Amino acid sequence: MASTSAPAPPALPGVADSVLDLIGETPIVRLRRLSPAGGPQVLVKLEGRNPGGSAKDRPALSLVQDAEASGALAPDAPIVESTSGNTGIGLALVGRLTGHPVVIVHGGAMSPEKLTLLRLYGAELVEADWLAGPDDPGNPRAVADRIAAERGGWRSHQYDNPANPGAHYRFTGPEIWRQTGGAITHLVAGIGTGGTISGTGRYLREVSHDRVRVVGANPAGSTYAGGPSGTIRVEGVGTTWPSSHWPRNLDTAVPHEIRTIPDEAAFAALRRLAEEEALLLGPSSGLAVAAALELAAGLGPHDVIVAVSPDSATNYLTELSR
Ligand SMILES: Cc1ncc(COP(=O)(O)O)c(C=O)c1O
Repeated sequence: MASTSAPAPPALPGVADSVLDLIGETPIVRLRRLSPAGGPQVLVKLEGRNPGGSAKDRPALSLVQDAEASGALAPDAPIVESTSGNTGIGLALVGRLTGHPVVIVHGGAMSPEKLTLLRLYGAELVEADWLAGPDDPGNPRAVADRIAAERGGWRSHQYDNPANPGAHYRFTGPEIWRQTGGAITHLVAGIGTGGTISGTGRYLREVSHDRVRVVGANPAGSTYAGGPSGTIRVEGVGTTWPSSHWPRNLDTAVPHEIRTIPDEAAFAALRRLAEEEALLLGPSSGLAVAAALELAAGLGPHDVIVAVSPDSATNYLTELSR
């Protein structure tokens, strides 16, 4: 009987087999104008260069591969997640290529660009009430749980699933170490689920025998640094805990400090990145770079700060053109 699947074509050097193979190995660029004269180098890791447009492609792939390997995600079963965007886009991309339908439950606060990208990747979108408390059945996590139960779907639980920081430990951290030739002295990352800072930070602390200092960037209105909760303007980062879920993926032993950055400083850094460095990045990149520049003011010329830029301006064109 003839085989229904064509034999694999021969591999070609320099050609990726699918976009899944293009996840990671993102570039790092020096901020030539924003780095303080005579002070440390401030570098930015451009995670927006991942195929789905953000750092979240990395955990999305690891979460799905892990769940397939353990049997938690059956072949063809749906992937269901509640997310403000980038993880959903990563899961939608990975779902497309691994044969899983993807259902994204969002709180109505997602940028129009992210909604469009999710639709283009073929995800089903469900809107829930992000103001509903953790015990309210109308809250996005509860709605996602219900849909997953009804359809035999798998919840990736990006806030608590160790495959999320695991992806950053296995890939993002080693890339930064290699790309800086081991010269990195400080890592700065915003905190959403905590996956980036916990995984990347843990690797860099271990490989440097605890020489690398890890600094979290917390948006105004978020309680990660212990302050009062309020409205969080910077998308993708922060928590309003105790009125929302506390992520198990934030390993509080990893960051040496967490700095709260006012919105004005985050958006001012975002504008300077565009005007002085021709880097069009997302608001949480402005947050991380603002924290990196604040840190840089107290450091010397031998220090090397790497700030993680989770995504680019492409996801926020409507908001940023106002
Ligand atoms: C735009 C953006 N920035 C930063 C983050 C924070 O990354 P992490 O969840 O790894 O803490 C996220 C997470 O969703 C994000 O979407």
